[in-house]
Amino acid sequence: MNSGSSAMLAKAACLLLVLAVHMNESVASPSPKETDIEQRVTELLEQMTLAEKIGQMAQVNAGDSYIHDYLADGIRAGRVGSVLNAVDLDIINELQRIAVEESRLGIPLLVGRDVIHGFKTVMPIPLGQAATWNPDMLREGAHVAAYEAATTGINWTFAPMIDISRDPRWGRIAESLGEDPYLASVLGAAMVQGFQGDDLAAVGTIAATAKHFAGYGASESGRDYSTTNIPENELRNVYLRPFHAAVEAGVSSLMTSFSDLDGIPATASEFLLRQVLRDEWAFDGLVVSDWDSIRQLHIHGLTANDRESAVEAIRAGVDMEMHGDAYTNHLESLVESGKIDAGLIDQAAGNILRIKFRLGLFDRPYTDRAILPPIGSDHALATARRAALQSVVMLTNEHHVLPLDASKLKSVALIGPLADAPYEQLGTWIFDGDSSLSVTPRQAIETLVGNDVEVSHVRAMKTSRTRTTEGFDEAVEAATNADAVVLFLGEESILSGEAHSRADINLPGAQAELVERIRATGKPVVAVIQAGRPLTLTNIVDNVDAILFAWHPGTMGGPAIADLLFGIASPSGKLPATFPRMVGQVPIYYNQKNTGKPPTPDTIAYIDDIDARAPQLSLGMTAFHLDAGYTPLFPFGHGLSYASFEYENLRLSTTALELGESLTVSVELLNTSPIAAHEVVQLYVRDLVGNVTRPVKELKGFRRIYLEPEERVTVEFELHTDDLAFYGRNMELITEPGEFHVWVGSSSEAELMTEFRIVTAD
Ligand code: NOJ
Repeated sequence: MNSGSSAMLAKAACLLLVLAVHMNESVASPSPKETDIEQRVTELLEQMTLAEKIGQMAQVNAGDSYIHDYLADGIRAGRVGSVLNAVDLDIINELQRIAVEESRLGIPLLVGRDVIHGFKTVMPIPLGQAATWNPDMLREGAHVAAYEAATTGINWTFAPMIDISRDPRWGRIAESLGEDPYLASVLGAAMVQGFQGDDLAAVGTIAATAKHFAGYGASESGRDYSTTNIPENELRNVYLRPFHAAVEAGVSSLMTSFSDLDGIPATASEFLLRQVLRDEWAFDGLVVSDWDSIRQLHIHGLTANDRESAVEAIRAGVDMEMHGDAYTNHLESLVESGKIDAGLIDQAAGNILRIKFRLGLFDRPYTDRAILPPIGSDHALATARRAALQSVVMLTNEHHVLPLDASKLKSVALIGPLADAPYEQLGTWIFDGDSSLSVTPRQAIETLVGNDVEVSHVRAMKTSRTRTTEGFDEAVEAATNADAVVLFLGEESILSGEAHSRADINLPGAQAELVERIRATGKPVVAVIQAGRPLTLTNIVDNVDAILFAWHPGTMGGPAIADLLFGIASPSGKLPATFPRMVGQVPIYYNQKNTGKPPTPDTIAYIDDIDARAPQLSLGMTAFHLDAGYTPLFPFGHGLSYASFEYENLRLSTTALELGESLTVSVELLNTSPIAAHEVVQLYVRDLVGNVTRPVKELKGFRRIYLEPEERVTVEFELHTDDLAFYGRNMELITEPGEFHVWVGSSSEAELMTEFRIVTAD
């Protein structure tokens, strides 16, 4: 074969490979078998010195512009097992070359990075992705993020974050999959599959990390890094469930939480890292600390110095220290002095090597960009657009003001700080996000309506936090001259994310006042809100005709929002977290316990009605707030559509089943409108009596269904008695015989209900 034809063949093979990566197929060199991997881990460990094993346990922060001598020397000497925050292909390949060619044993590096909701092409924030209630969507979003990140040699991401988040004050709720253990379990597992594919050694897949193990989402008052107080029963029934699901989905690593759980910071928790993770769940991947969280054990007040911190962390089961030197400085002498068993080091180093073998790094340490799809490919952008489209939740739509009719409107005014903000729409944790790829709502609306509708744009506020009202007159004038107004409100990206918690979760700055001024023009007003958390919208909800809650929708947020505003598509997102009326209701979540004094509309009074109602009421004797009642502004699972749906004929295949059996729940769903749309059908269950108290409702199934106009479908769910299991009084997983209620509908407030029993065999 001449060199020309072999070059052509190579090019064709390369193209095929790129196509396969796009289509989410495995294209690996045959992946190493697990038994071979165990043997290779053992053989390698036998060749390693104690110092080399401890070297594997160090993760070093790498710069991106050049390679520091200390890093190169450390890798050469076998003192570094992983780097994080390198994102330049040439640098990463060179770091791998030093590891593979210049270190004694040639062990390649794990290259970690926070690829949280996209790499250059940014998907909606994870909380927004959770609002799609579409595991396939999250899987595909993670797959795109993985192959874009892989182009630079990154082989390990610190995602998904699956901390149950019931507190919208907490800035990191943006990174989470919301408040519900079942939803977060299903979606978190899908993300793991998306990052890792079927074969971790395939081109374009990267290792995933389930974080932060565990309980971080319960930080007191939503203040980041704060203490958590979670009883073990709630920990197991709520906070640990998504982690167990991620482990079952084959996640490669877990990251410990910064937070303190029942007096023991998670990074030192033998209970979490050994008893639950290794003994109960048989996890064989690697556990990485959070950034410097081993040394922080001293700051927590658990240890007197870094040496003691190293002891606590290695005993607990932390395999790798992220950016810190407690392990590097102390482990060797701790082993030599007999304070630490050398077996613990073997275990930790073995867990790290195992992931390196699974990733195929020993066989393919270098990255060849040519065999991966280009950044910002059509496929990546289309995925980001679909994800954004499905993530937007229509909270209200009075008098069907939406969708806007481009054939009838002559003009529309786009007002607010977030109509044309390419960076802000990307949201938190977008180290590598490329805002030049962003299409803003303003750009997309102008493209969509062309010359048919005149579009004006007034920013009105410099940022979402601006308190002055200087720009409002111009905004009012634009509104007055337009047939309809779309207000682009919310939070800039900097207002959520790590260490960006808020105690007040109203729209910031003078936004509520802007809404009032625009309302006074008498024009139809639609609010599109981009934010990193549920907000309290009580002060604006009656001043606008419709609200589209778009989270931070990512690169393609603009076209998605434009399509929804103008009815090219119908909104189909559903809330993955409850929206409170007032911040004082937090934590407020749908799967709460009943209490001994559950409130009802008849037993509550509002502060202004106390005198009038008090004679008929035993005021204060049920669980409510005098100024907020007990219901949220918008419940978990809520989200409106341009179509209208009816649920009918909720049926069970049996009303009595035994342990180990399943029943089928079926419901008829009817699109009673002339509009084709998606609906997310939700199944909730209540276990009426338990040996520990059970939530008033628990999500047990959901399905995103596309219905043509007037279409009727039957939707079925299989419910096995294992699906009803919970951790009981003795922390054992049990399903108890007894009565259950089942609801199916369009939110956690679904009313269509039926009942069944689990009976004992005799
Ligand atoms: C600290 C964060 O808590 C964690 O989520 C992140 O992965 C690491 N920093 C690395 O950036």
